[in-house]
Amino acid sequence: MPDLCTTGERLFKELDDYIDSIGAKPDKLISVLQKAQELFGYLSIEVQQHIADALNIPVSQVYGVVTFYNFFSTKPKGKVQIKVCLGTACYVKGGDRVLERFLEELGTKPEEPTKDGQFSVHPVRCLGACSMAPVVLVGEKDFYGRIKPDMVPRIIEKYREVKER
Ligand code: FES
Repeated sequence: MPDLCTTGERLFKELDDYIDSIGAKPDKLISVLQKAQELFGYLSIEVQQHIADALNIPVSQVYGVVTFYNFFSTKPKGKVQIKVCLGTACYVKGGDRVLERFLEELGTKPEEPTKDGQFSVHPVRCLGACSMAPVVLVGEKDFYGRIKPDMVPRIIEKYREVKER
């Protein structure tokens, strides 16, 4: 028999299995949200409602936690997330111009994924590397320091998916 499950249904099933495995209790909310974000990439209202129902808590409580912690996201992100520091040290050394160049090259707005879903650009506060200002972090660990706007296209190229010919 063909598998009629959609990807979304499979992800909800996986989330439910996880909730069963740790126990559907309100004090497990953070763990459940982390798992849901790992599975779905972000926490839509539909996912938040599902979690509220599963843990038997109001959706407003779920929403409150999601919006309190900045590692949770309610919007889809690109596969490659580019964080551009706009902390004081980076800002005075041109971080805002670096951010503008990324947005211009990728044809997107802050926090919104590009049309192909490959990238999203996120202005952030101090990344803890002020001596290398202005700083950009690509993904979780690729730091680029002393960035000038004309270096941006080369950085983007490194992370573009290789297109099939
Ligand atoms: S202000 Fe940008 S790394 Fe500190």
